[in-house]
Amino acid sequence: MIFKTAFFSLASLALVVNAVPAIVPRAEPGLISADCIDVFLRGSWLVGSCLTGEGTTRVQSSVYLSSKITNREGTISWKIAGGYGASCKDCKIINGSSLNCQCYVTGRASTRNTTLNLDEHIHNYRGHLLTDQFGTPVVPPTSTVPVPTDFSWTLSMGASNCFSDRPDYDISFCRSTTNNTTQPCNSYNDVESYDAPVQCFAWRMPISTPIWMEFEKMRANAPSKAIEFLVYDNMDCNGEPFDSVKPGEYGTCKLFPQAARGVRTKMLWNADSS
Ligand SMILES: *[C@@H]1O[C@H](CO)[C@@H](O)[C@H](O)[C@H]1NC(C)=O
Ligand SMILES: *[C@@H]1O[C@H](CO)[C@@H](O)[C@H](O)[C@H]1NC(C)=O
Ligand SMILES: *[C@@H]1O[C@H](CO)[C@@H](O)[C@H](O)[C@H]1NC(C)=O
Ligand SMILES: *[C@@H]1O[C@H](CO)[C@@H](O)[C@H](O)[C@H]1NC(C)=O
Repeated sequence: MIFKTAFFSLASLALVVNAVPAIVPRAEPGLISADCIDVFLRGSWLVGSCLTGEGTTRVQSSVYLSSKITNREGTISWKIAGGYGASCKDCKIINGSSLNCQCYVTGRASTRNTTLNLDEHIHNYRGHLLTDQFGTPVVPPTSTVPVPTDFSWTLSMGASNCFSDRPDYDISFCRSTTNNTTQPCNSYNDVESYDAPVQCFAWRMPISTPIWMEFEKMRANAPSKAIEFLVYDNMDCNGEPFDSVKPGEYGTCKLFPQAARGVRTKMLWNADSS
């Protein structure tokens, strides 16, 4: 989309002022080691300042690595929803673009020294570090929000009620018929994360039968003031969100026009949080 716009505007520019050579944004992805400076890890995020392809202009962007890499018996490798962060420590970037960690092996107290070349699946797309694990990425619009130093966030829900997608489950023990919107956002309903984005959070009751909670109220907090929490009417966060909690609304127990069943984090800085 963005690409097309750039192409058309450059094309029409070239028609009008033929003498000026058009600066064509780089279409091909570039290597981290060749295009980026100040490359480092912050939590499980890879951060770098990469050339946009227009002169010396750079964009600072970030990629969440833990959802893209796994630890298998002390060796890290590419895997969607991998979660290496939970079983590796002392991770750092070496040799410009390789992730080096000390990772645990099942049943052993010791770790193994393991390295993965990030150039294999993360590239610079016109200033944005993005993964190609899901196919050629769409280059997002450039944000001016800096990559935060603290990625943590918390949510508390209120005006909640249970539901089930299975007609054979008896939910009368938890189902309220009053839809009580005076119920506050309680801290015992907290969901918190140290640094992870979520594609879709659905709130399951802590019982063996899979029964879920919907909520008409939510309070959000994030020290970065740079996460928007999108709310959906379904547990898979399909379709368009019907509402959201923006940084300016943090700390308040926001009442939605309808019950929410799924929440997705939208990072407001340049972030590949897939
Ligand atoms: C460091 O990077 C260079 C160039 O990409 C590569 O040839 C070399 O094997 C790498 N060294 C290690 C230890 O990964
Ligand atoms: C792990 O291996 C890397 C690359 O081979 C090396 O640079 C680093 O010093 C090693 N780290 C430890 C703790 O042995
Ligand atoms: C309570 O909310 C559910 C949907 O969340 C709706 O189907 C139901 O009609 C509501 N009940 C009342 C009494 O408003
Ligand atoms: C609604 O929730 C409030 C606060 O939790 C509670 O005091 C009140 O009794 C509830 N009302 C109904 C009708 O359940």
